[in-house]
Amino acid sequence: MKITRAMALVSPLMFALAACSTKQASHTAAAPAALSVSFNGACAGCHGDSGEGGLGPALAGSKLSLADFTATVRAGSGPMPAFGAADYSDAQLSNDYAFLTGK
Ligand code: HEC
Repeated sequence: MKITRAMALVSPLMFALAACSTKQASHTAAAPAALSVSFNGACAGCHGDSGEGGLGPALAGSKLSLADFTATVRAGSGPMPAFGAADYSDAQLSNDYAFLTGK
């Protein structure tokens, strides 16, 4: 009896939580599932497999704007070489920017 009552109390809570995460999922519907193949090949060596940082700064959770991110990648910065669209396409760049920043 006690269990049933607890369940009755918990179920709507679970539903509310599920509704919340569904809402968030739809908010970030465009969020990609993974970093691009080029990120793994060209960036991960310095920025980490998940962009957690290494020789280069962490990119995961970066507050950089897409414009600044793009400018750094295309022009290079300090020890970081420049990457043109042939090596790292605009689509890969925006995929990875979205993945790393959640924006
Ligand atoms: C040889 C190592 C190296 C590689 C390869 C590399 N980076 Fe970097 N990256 C760095 C370093 C070091 C910095 C910091 C540069 C500075 O302080 O001027 C940096 C900075 C950045 C920044 C600016 C970060 C900030 O917070 O200001 C971005 C964005 C970035 N890298 C993205 C990339 C991407 C995307 C790739 C792959 C296409 C890549 N990097 C490849 C070493 C690297």
